[in-house]
Amino acid sequence: MASGRVALISVFVWLCLVGGLCDQNVYPKVGALFVHKLDVEDYQQQFLNKSGNERTQPITFRANLEGFPDLPGWLRYTQRSPWHSGYLYGSPTKPGKHVIEITVYNRNTYEMLREKIIFHIRSTEDVPPPYRAEFLVENMDVEELLPPEAQHNFQVPLQAVWNTQRLSIINITSALDKGGRVPLPLPGLKEGVFIKVGSVVPFPECFYDTQNLQIRRQCRQGQKPPLCPEMLPNDFVIDWCNVSLVDELEPSPTPPSYEALEFDGKFYPPPDTLEEINYLPDYLLTILLPALIALLLCLLLSYIMCCRREGVEKRDSNTSELQLIHQQSIFSNTEELRRMAASREVPRPLSTLPMFNTRTGQRTSPMELASDSARVPLILSQQ
Ligand SMILES: *[C@@H]1O[C@H](CO)[C@@H](O)[C@H](O)[C@H]1NC(C)=O
Ligand SMILES: *[C@@H]1O[C@H](CO)[C@@H](O)[C@H](O)[C@H]1NC(C)=O
Ligand SMILES: *[C@@H]1O[C@H](CO)[C@@H](O)[C@H](O)[C@H]1NC(C)=O
Repeated sequence: MASGRVALISVFVWLCLVGGLCDQNVYPKVGALFVHKLDVEDYQQQFLNKSGNERTQPITFRANLEGFPDLPGWLRYTQRSPWHSGYLYGSPTKPGKHVIEITVYNRNTYEMLREKIIFHIRSTEDVPPPYRAEFLVENMDVEELLPPEAQHNFQVPLQAVWNTQRLSIINITSALDKGGRVPLPLPGLKEGVFIKVGSVVPFPECFYDTQNLQIRRQCRQGQKPPLCPEMLPNDFVIDWCNVSLVDELEPSPTPPSYEALEFDGKFYPPPDTLEEINYLPDYLLTILLPALIALLLCLLLSYIMCCRREGVEKRDSNTSELQLIHQQSIFSNTEELRRMAASREVPRPLSTLPMFNTRTGQRTSPMELASDSARVPLILSQQ
């Protein structure tokens, strides 16, 4: 009997590890905070069973929507270090089914496990709580507020202030996701967590004080006014300057522009007041003025080119006559020069004589030079 049960359990464990039959089912509710813990000790135990390694192992996780690289928009994942448990948390916005794949890595041995968590998101009949308040808890990191005990510890004093048991935690967000800054790695400095709580019961008076103008001014000056004294002896440090309240039952004053848009069932087109617009001045300015200037410039240029050039008129009318006169004058001048050269008595210019030394003015007969050739270098005398 007992051995049969052991066999059954081992078959189940084998199916779970090999066949992936141990997919977990979880049932989050629309509009309520959902937290799933990925317990690091469980997985350490699984790796221990698989490989027989005695030491506890550092473990990290990766979570994604099946067939996609990331998680659905409403679901977040966090893990502080490989020795801490991981958390999947968020507040679903619409019903449906998600298959989330979890990959578990052993950081020492590089072993890996895969499992699936099937999210069946249920819709709720209850209307969302009309009074919703969001607080900033300054002295917490998000995974410190995710375990149910921490949420309970936060809720109990709040119930006392709110004077109701009907509180529900709607959402938890790390301040880092809302534009907060990563704190210095000093003890006591935490990221901060936004926690949204809803109820059907109206807010207590001290919540409204946070929206008070005087308190707001103090906040802007950097002071931290302590409000809701019942909450003070508490592990949670609430930033009363960073409380946002949503009150769906109190109608917010409608902006006046909204009334102007009221519709009485008829359509009145805007009156056809468009006058005929006279485009003539524009036309003159854009087309005619540049054309006029271009024409003026053109005329000016033609005048300079045609009328101000010297000799053009003459050349135009009797070019061939001009050329004839030119040739005639050259011819007669040459004739005259020839006549003068034939009748001259003057000696020839020195520069036209052979062997004239331009520097000394000395004249040497070429015949003299030739007889003296023994004293001249051979190369020169050959020339
Ligand atoms: C690991 O083995 C121990 C006993 O050998 C068993 O009790 C435990 O459930 C196993 N854990 C896992 C996660 O399989
Ligand atoms: C919960 O908080 C996250 C992060 O700010 C936001 O994206 C999401 O819309 C919130 N969900 C609800 C239901 O308010
Ligand atoms: C509220 O907290 C956010 C994130 O830390 C910060 O950016 C914002 O300035 C705070 N607002 C006030 C009024 O302190």
